[in-house]
Amino acid sequence: MVGGSGYVGLCTGVGLAGKGHVVVCIDQDQAKVAMLQAGKSPLYEPGLEAALKAAIGQGRLTATSDIDKGVAGCQAIFITVGTPSNADGSIDLSYIKAASAQIGAAVRGRKDYFVVIVKSTVVPETTEKVVRPALEQASGKVAGKGFGLVMNPEFLREGKALDDFLMPDRIVIGSLDQRSGDVAEQIYHNFQAPKLRTDLKTAEMIKYAGNAMLATKISFINEIGNICKLLGIDAYKVAEGIGLDKRIGPHFLNSGIGWGGSCFPKDVAALVAKAKEIGYEPRLLDEVTALNARQKVRILDMLERRMGSVKGKRIAVLGLAFKNDTDDIRDAPSIEIIGALKKAGATIAAYDPQAMGNMRKLHPDITYAKSVTAALEAADACLVLTEWKEFAALGNRDFAAMRSRIILEGRRVLADSISGREGVCW
Ligand code: UDX
Repeated sequence: MVGGSGYVGLCTGVGLAGKGHVVVCIDQDQAKVAMLQAGKSPLYEPGLEAALKAAIGQGRLTATSDIDKGVAGCQAIFITVGTPSNADGSIDLSYIKAASAQIGAAVRGRKDYFVVIVKSTVVPETTEKVVRPALEQASGKVAGKGFGLVMNPEFLREGKALDDFLMPDRIVIGSLDQRSGDVAEQIYHNFQAPKLRTDLKTAEMIKYAGNAMLATKISFINEIGNICKLLGIDAYKVAEGIGLDKRIGPHFLNSGIGWGGSCFPKDVAALVAKAKEIGYEPRLLDEVTALNARQKVRILDMLERRMGSVKGKRIAVLGLAFKNDTDDIRDAPSIEIIGALKKAGATIAAYDPQAMGNMRKLHPDITYAKSVTAALEAADACLVLTEWKEFAALGNRDFAAMRSRIILEGRRVLADSISGREGVCW
């Protein structure tokens, strides 16, 4: 059973059902449960809805908002609720605490052994010091005797989440004891991936260290890219050159307007806050974050250099999502860029294949165009902010209706043949 049918929960539930397990998805939100029962995915993720329908059709997946019913008879109970940030960047554990207490209460009368598996991203020591006591208190049981406890982080990328779940680079199983870890490992018996067994807090740290490393890699290449730009060097050639070194590798070396999304900003901030809480000053991670904040808005300096004041100018914004293949705009650079353009008195026509609905809630007062060409009509400049495939297919003719040909790329996606384009790091 999987508690919390958000992004992680749904991919875990649908993925495990596809691998032959019988899954119950539990969520407090009745509307979400009704959608799931009808075979509809509450979020946009390639392949998810088809796999959900298949799992329901095979009788392997059901959904309920009744937690008592949901956990009854389950050998493993996954906690996949969200762990958002507090205002100071530290992790908000209220959903984790509530879910642990609810699960504890629901398993109170059980006599058989089962395992609780934390999949939510939680800072080191949370499973031991927060989840464990909440479960023990509400269930009247003792972890390691009445039930097992595991921390099994997820490494899902939005847009590729189901593939990442089914074909992971590795499966990390942190456990309170051998028996708990064995149950979790058995759940993944038909996954072709190295399985790493650790204790609880090491598994928690692996998740944060992984995301912090990736965010650092991007901030690093952005810094190199900024220097390259000043020297007239193409940062992408440089990335290719260093990426061929096996010790560095070719991935996550795309320079641009920085990292956004639901994970990197939140997780790096939570790790920084945790480090500070225990008396350590994480200077590298602080700078990685600061560099990313500056990187997001560099494109505005470029714009000003090219056209002077944007007051009264029409700016086309192509791409709003924090990356391609998602409608997610959480911590997307586009939010701040549009905010700054509005403040400076520009008129904005935006286009995104998926994320316009979400952006409309934050910036209702800009024009949302039906197509790329409609957004570009009479534009004084164009900013490309998401690496959508659709933009890679654009030709010079698509930009013909612009009033002046200033095309600034925050993500490198346009064809080389597009004239007048300039990138933030290339
Ligand atoms: C990330 C991690 O990859 C995943 O393992 C974790 O579980 C959740 O967080 P996600 O947020 O979906 O996944 O997106 P990802 O593909 O990692 O991209 C994050 C951000 O970095 C995006 O804004 C993307 O545009 C940016 N990015 C990525 C770069 O700027 N350059 C790159 O080379 C790669």
